[in-house]
Amino acid sequence: MTFLFNSDAVRGAIFAEAFARELPDLPFSMDPAGVDPDAVRYLITWTIPDNLTRYRNLEIVFSIGAGVDQFAMTALPPSVKVVRMVEDGIVRMMQEYATLAVLTLHRQMPAYRAQQAERVWRPLPQPQAAQRRVGVLGLGVLGQAVLERLKLFGFPLAGWSRSPRDIDGVTCHHGADGLDAMLAETDILIVLLPLTTDTRGFLDTALLAKLPKGAALVHTGRGPQLDHAALLDALDSGQLSGAVVDVTDPEPLPADHPFWTHPNIVLTPHIASITQPDGAARAVIGNLRRHFAGQDPVGLVDRRRGY
Ligand code: NDP
Ligand code: OXD
Repeated sequence: MTFLFNSDAVRGAIFAEAFARELPDLPFSMDPAGVDPDAVRYLITWTIPDNLTRYRNLEIVFSIGAGVDQFAMTALPPSVKVVRMVEDGIVRMMQEYATLAVLTLHRQMPAYRAQQAERVWRPLPQPQAAQRRVGVLGLGVLGQAVLERLKLFGFPLAGWSRSPRDIDGVTCHHGADGLDAMLAETDILIVLLPLTTDTRGFLDTALLAKLPKGAALVHTGRGPQLDHAALLDALDSGQLSGAVVDVTDPEPLPADHPFWTHPNIVLTPHIASITQPDGAARAVIGNLRRHFAGQDPVGLVDRRRGY
């Protein structure tokens, strides 16, 4: 029985050390070419390797990241469990990024940067946090963690998910009707949805039109959820006032893509959260212990739902 680590050597060394300490009886390999394929029961990887069928006794595939949309699920035998990464570092970094993005938009930093470039010293009218409604699409691990942080600032908070949720201090919506109701009352919209067949192309002209005029977007889900032309049109018409975009399709964007130079877009290269190897090793080891005890791992993906 072997755990196969299929990622970079720096993270691998941290995993190897944690496995040697915590699970000394479980052989750990970072060498797909050298390992006995029949011994591989557990695999951690970012994408599904082409030669996956050689691991005939595979039980669990762990994603290095929080998302699993990069996995070609059909390449995995139905018996294999898929587990996404639920790890403190990812959560903490997303809380930081979403807070930074919301405050950037709330406190009008793009406008002040533009004024600075023109040597203009001019205070702008500043709405207070209690007047700036923040809504989050996706009330999973990350959506809830972000809302928890944003509570500190006094923004009215709302969120939307597939199934009903009840979160203290957050107006929770779900389903199609719930989406329209939330969008109509959201000044800053944060996207923390997984990429699935339901959410691909979700952020389109029709959705952006349901936000109040002058609202803003923080896109931290997945690139293919956002229609780029729809965002540009919404910004250029004034329907949206600004956007912070961390994920795009493709990544990276081509050099002539309008997002690079748009005055109302803050663009970052998919860095909102980055899996931290020590936390990731702890999470995977914890999940293996749960698996050995006959329990489901934390972050077990429902393969039919796609997240
Ligand atoms: P979770 O699986 O914990 O939560 C997903 C949430 O989205 C759930 O609340 C779920 O609803 C909701 N949801 C899914 N599909 C739909 C739908 N069709 N309609 C309405 N709600 C839906 O995921 P995480 O919070 O851990 O992560 C969310 C995403 O964040 C990841 O999948 C990834 O795409 C992105 N991400 C981005 C990073 C970055 O650096 N930019 C880093 C890490 C993650 P329900 O509660 O009903 O199941
Ligand atoms: C992830 C990501 O899914 O980095 O962890 O986006």
